[in-house]
Amino acid sequence: MFLLNGKRIIVTGASRGIGFGISKILARHGALLYLTSLSPNRLEKAVQKIEQDPDTRGKVVGYTAADLSKPGNGSRIVKEALESMNGLDGIVYVPPPPPQGFFDELTLEDWKHSSQVLIHSAIEIVKTALDSLKESARLHRNPGIVFVTSIAAWEPDPVITTSSALRIALHGLTQVLARDLGRYGIRVNAIVPGYILTDRLMSLAAKRMPDNPERYLDSLRGKIPLGRIGTTEDMGYAALFLLSDLSSYINGAIIPVDGGLHRKTI
Ligand SMILES: NC(=O)c1ccc[n+]([C@@H]2O[C@H](COP(=O)([O-])OP(=O)(O)OC[C@H]3O[C@@H](n4cnc5c(N)ncnc54)[C@H](OP(=O)(O)O)[C@@H]3O)[C@@H](O)[C@H]2O)c1
Repeated sequence: MFLLNGKRIIVTGASRGIGFGISKILARHGALLYLTSLSPNRLEKAVQKIEQDPDTRGKVVGYTAADLSKPGNGSRIVKEALESMNGLDGIVYVPPPPPQGFFDELTLEDWKHSSQVLIHSAIEIVKTALDSLKESARLHRNPGIVFVTSIAAWEPDPVITTSSALRIALHGLTQVLARDLGRYGIRVNAIVPGYILTDRLMSLAAKRMPDNPERYLDSLRGKIPLGRIGTTEDMGYAALFLLSDLSSYINGAIIPVDGGLHRKTI
């Protein structure tokens, strides 16, 4: 049984890391995908990898490179996706990684870029896609939106100042849209990565411990109750669940995917 049989889904940040891991898992479970990322070359290579795998061949319906730090590109992606897929049943918004750095290293331009990728582009994409998601709900296709956020929203970290300050906005958007769009039958949820092995995590490790980034990764393993760093597939399975009928009554959830790293009782 395919959990996402023919569901038409846009995934951002899809060329590598978390977005690529999610794309692979969704494709393996029957989704039809429209993918986007920044670099046309890297995106094309990612699409080729999905094409070469017999379990996911034919699942990428279209793709386009776009810089999500520039207003207008979120809308363009959605319009192109709607044309390619003749409708839409889901969105996975994986925000481009914002600039890293302590407060005094960051420019005002960095803050503008960060707020564009961490919240404004998500808003633009959902706004442009809304009528199509409503149509999907009318056809009982159980549409869903999944935002990828970050543990920094709960545990601010001065090495990633903009992320720590601004990610929480996507949690707010998740909750308010869940309440607002729920009446149409559109579910909105978020998944919150702790530490997932990707290029982004490696660059953070290099910033933290330039002499020995591997030692930094070991120190993380020591803090995570499950004793391992997450994989992009771990993120993929969480997104799969939230976009499938298995989660039809889950709306407004903000779910950590972090091996038990983040602790809270309320
Ligand atoms: N990895 C972790 O442990 C972790 C933890 C918490 C939160 N996060 C967050 O999760 C998100 C994904 O992280 P990741 O680890 O998967 O990062 P990654 O491996 O570095 O991948 C980043 C993705 O974003 C795309 N991208 C970069 N700049 C872009 C732009 N201006 N416009 C459009 N797309 C752009 C890249 O496209 P190209 O390849 O085409 O450049 C790539 O597909 C980020 O927001 C990150 O901060 C990650």
